[in-house]
Amino acid sequence: MKFDGLDKNRLPRHVAIIMDGNGRWAKLRGKSRIEGHRRGKTSVRVIVELSRKIGIRFLSLYAFSTENWLRPHDEVDALMGLLQHYLIAEQAKMMRYGIRLLAVGDRSRLPQSVRRTLEQVIEATRNNGRMTVVLALSYSGRDEIVRMARQIARAARENRLDPETIDERMISAQMDSPEVPDPDLLIRTSGEMRISNFYLWQIAYSELYVTPTLWPDFREQEYLQALIDFQRRRRRFGRTDEQLVDTAPSVLEAGGSES
Ligand code: IPE
Ligand code: IPE
Ligand code: MG
Repeated sequence: MKFDGLDKNRLPRHVAIIMDGNGRWAKLRGKSRIEGHRRGKTSVRVIVELSRKIGIRFLSLYAFSTENWLRPHDEVDALMGLLQHYLIAEQAKMMRYGIRLLAVGDRSRLPQSVRRTLEQVIEATRNNGRMTVVLALSYSGRDEIVRMARQIARAARENRLDPETIDERMISAQMDSPEVPDPDLLIRTSGEMRISNFYLWQIAYSELYVTPTLWPDFREQEYLQALIDFQRRRRRFGRTDEQLVDTAPSVLEAGGSES
């Protein structure tokens, strides 16, 4: 596949996606919501593969929010099953192509078997350096911030930390994936103009891209369109056009460094 119109020198380093619209996709076709999630899994495969080919270094996928636990049991079970199948099926490809898997979110709420598979794939792929896929599972931005605050408060109580030394870098470093830089581009499918508790701290200066396309229909052309759109943006980071630079002020950068 050719990537016409895409400037390989100005790619977002980190793309984050709120994968929404599986249920609506299914409803439009008179199918069950679970069928929609199944089709959504294919989109995940396509987008991971294309990201790798294009040379995206970090890809975050919002797969299941803490609020999604409130959905009907059948749907939650099916999503967990699909997730486990995905991990098992994709591990070999991750090894072949140098893809490292990370997860953000409260893993303790995941079913044991899913958690075990997840941790096994994370461990197996930990030295892969070509690209990092971050799965947000049982994740919410506020939950992550609460867990971060607890860790910092604990360190202060135990005199391991002087509160006056807390800065943005330290907070970034206490988040679930400190080695991942903040997203440059945040995509949401299915047209909803909201963040739904995804990365809150991390998207301070992310470029937003919302498409009405439902996640199961979000494939190559749609993704390239989002990347091309991103490359047309002027990221000012608070400065004026005349001062334009292409990078965030250091204070806004993620605490970690790129691998
Ligand atoms: C996104 O699709 C998948 C998850 C949130 C797990 P939805 O299931 O939210 O689909 P809609 O929004 O109902 O169409
Ligand atoms: C956001 O989608 C969460 C994921 C994509 C995992 P939702 O479908 O849960 O979001 P709302 O409820 O429409 O805000
Ligand atoms: Mg939805």
